[in-house]
Amino acid sequence: MEHDAQPPRQDRTEVGTPVPADDLAPARPRTPIIAFVDVSKSFGDNTIYAGMNLEVHPGETLTIIGGSGLGKSVCLKMLIGLLPVDSGRITVLGTDIGTADDEVLREVRRRVAYVFQGGALFDSMTVLENIGYGLREHTKMGDEEIRARAKACLEMVGLEEKDLDTMPASLSGGMRKRVALARSIAPQPEVILYDEPTTGLDPRNITRIGDMIKKLQRELQVTSVVVTHDMPTARKVSDRIAMLYRHRFPFVGTVQEMWQSEDPAVRDFIHGTLRRPPAAHGSHAKEHHGP
Ligand SMILES: Nc1ncnc2c1ncn2[C@@H]1O[C@H](COP(=O)(O)OP(=O)(O)OP(=O)(O)O)[C@@H](O)[C@H]1O
Ligand SMILES: [Mg+2]
Repeated sequence: MEHDAQPPRQDRTEVGTPVPADDLAPARPRTPIIAFVDVSKSFGDNTIYAGMNLEVHPGETLTIIGGSGLGKSVCLKMLIGLLPVDSGRITVLGTDIGTADDEVLREVRRRVAYVFQGGALFDSMTVLENIGYGLREHTKMGDEEIRARAKACLEMVGLEEKDLDTMPASLSGGMRKRVALARSIAPQPEVILYDEPTTGLDPRNITRIGDMIKKLQRELQVTSVVVTHDMPTARKVSDRIAMLYRHRFPFVGTVQEMWQSEDPAVRDFIHGTLRRPPAAHGSHAKEHHGP
């Protein structure tokens, strides 16, 4: 897989403890960056997860797919401790999220960026202020340093320095999404959680966002979890896909493995969403989205 061929992780001492080099060695089993172990979660009678297990490995991009309302966003929220689990265990970067105190949770959230569904920006703040918000909160960086970091992050997402002083209201939807991404990468997170990063974007910006996710993985060795209904983007960015079905992830594997799976649930999903097999890596087959 692509992450096995990556260069050594860059020094991240500025933002947190680097993952031990041994954990990145491709030849031996690696400690997962994120692990859900036997997790159950309900809201009243509404069962979302029942005995769910899922692991995300260092440097991989794992995409979660599944029907609307099944619990994809809940999964990300549990992962960073915004929603508690009923039972089971979630570990993120070696921290047990269920038993972590507020200070430890804050530290985890500093290392794990969450690009919210909708990618909301603070409308009363400039692009620079939006991107700098987390840096002011979590670092001792001064104004100049923050501006330089914000500029670098904007460039990373295909925007320019002149956009720094713009108000979000005057940006297009695609630009706002990209600013939200820039804000997420500014604190140099080790993990990025993207909730529907391409929803509502035109084809050009969908392609651009997919390219950015790959670029961040390649250049910053970020571990990512992407929630999406957008199968072309899923195919493009994913090392593995996890399919949410009946309160668990009965299938986790590559796009090819997904296509070849005999599992009836996977077959159902594929036939509900895809009309032809995945083409060669990097290209997009035409498709319909599921019900
Ligand atoms: N805080 C909450 N309190 C009660 N129910 C909730 C809460 N958050 C989510 N739910 C319920 O949990 C279920 C899963 O919601 P979630 O937002 O995770 O769906 P999703 O898979 O992300 O859907 P979509 O693809 O539409 O974004 C839904 O039935 C939702 O109503
Ligand atoms: Mg959602």
